Amino acid sequence: MDSILVKGNGPLNGEIPIAGAKNACLTLMPATLLSEEPLTLTNAPRLSDIKTMTQLLQSLGSEVSALSDGQVLAMSSHNIDNHVADYEIVRKMRASNLVLGPMLARLGHAVVSLPGGCAIGARPMDLHIYGLEKLGAEIELKDGYLHAKAPRGLKGAEMELRFASVGATENILMAATLAKGTTVINNAAREPEIVDLADCLRAMGAQIEGDGSPTIVVQGVDRLKGATHPVVTDRIELGTYMLAPVIAGGEVELLGGRIDLIGAFCEKLDAAGVSIEETARGLKVARKNGRVKAVDVVTAPFPGFPTDLQAQMMALMCTAEGTSVLEEKIFENRFMHAPELGRMGANIEVSGGTATVHGVEKLKGAPVMATDLRASVSLILAGLAAEGETLVNRVYHLDRGYERLVRKLTGVGALVERVTGT
Ligand code: EPU
Repeated sequence: MDSILVKGNGPLNGEIPIAGAKNACLTLMPATLLSEEPLTLTNAPRLSDIKTMTQLLQSLGSEVSALSDGQVLAMSSHNIDNHVADYEIVRKMRASNLVLGPMLARLGHAVVSLPGGCAIGARPMDLHIYGLEKLGAEIELKDGYLHAKAPRGLKGAEMELRFASVGATENILMAATLAKGTTVINNAAREPEIVDLADCLRAMGAQIEGDGSPTIVVQGVDRLKGATHPVVTDRIELGTYMLAPVIAGGEVELLGGRIDLIGAFCEKLDAAGVSIEETARGLKVARKNGRVKAVDVVTAPFPGFPTDLQAQMMALMCTAEGTSVLEEKIFENRFMHAPELGRMGANIEVSGGTATVHGVEKLKGAPVMATDLRASVSLILAGLAAEGETLVNRVYHLDRGYERLVRKLTGVGALVERVTGT
């Protein structure tokens, strides 16, 4: 298994291009199932999760071709000859459940394996089921699979999500585009990935209003057409690389970066004493003098502080001046990076969903590993400023969500290399 070796070596300078968003692309791809005409995505990220979604769509009968070195995904679903999303694919990636809404809307039936829990929490699907049932679907759980059918077709309805779930909002939104009549989703998720999905669906002919607000209104149409859509910038990759010069020192321009994608995160960096400048090409981030100040963080749905940047923020807080308290409110088990950071000399106490980080002057390199994507990248960030060498194992997590990580970091002067395992 491959590892990544990071040698702490001080200031980073230069620019890092930010890719299209993994989590947007993973919901835009299943949107191909809604139409017989081709859907093309540009600015797609080159990630193993995208390959997994490609495999899943192909298993259903979609044609998916990766063009332009993987940055363009040309998809066509004129002939869907299978309606079963198999456990063998779904278990690899929870986002596979995003084929449920579109298949149900287009075909009137779908069988999708329940993804089960994952390292960061139990992650049930009750909200997806609640919303689709409101639209008239009949859903049964049999042998670990959700069997969904809409014998009389889907019908628009008003509903209120008990929690603003990203995935549930996406599944319901996609299904509602082809339902008869009006659907109102109250307490909908407001993440930029939802707005991106709505933009793409509108380009396909859907009638949607209110995306980006807590109430989304969809007027169902009979059919959707083909479209070409650029995937929005990855705000989590952006936030992650913004922290590289903050942790290691220096000044880096993040190409394609936008403050409106991660306002709450930028406010925290500002309070910590980091300089962020909007440029014509993106965002320039610098830490020029001394240590950053400790700040407290509470994760929340958008526009709050993203849970997907909590681990990386913790890596920064390890060497901040003072004590910071990080509260994780979205997932119940998302502090697996804390003991690993502890092996590098961080002083962190975890109690339930709260981590208290007492800043130390310096971290020390160590062999570490993590059990999820964001936890893994937090260890890479920590390694950038640590004394000595940090070997981050289980690199396959990073391959799921960070394209060309080694190339991007070495491009700004970091000493990072991939070590091929046996
Ligand atoms: N939840 C329920 N019932 C449901 C759905 C969700 O209780 O039916 C709970 C979950 O268990 C969790 C919370 O609601 O505690 C939030 O889950 P949500 O549905 O919002 O998350 P998701 O759609 O499963 C997406 C991202 C995650 C990101 C979360 C929160 C994708 C493919 N994944 O997951 O990304 O953390 O939203 O912003 O879009 C990552 O990229 O590393 C990642 C985990």
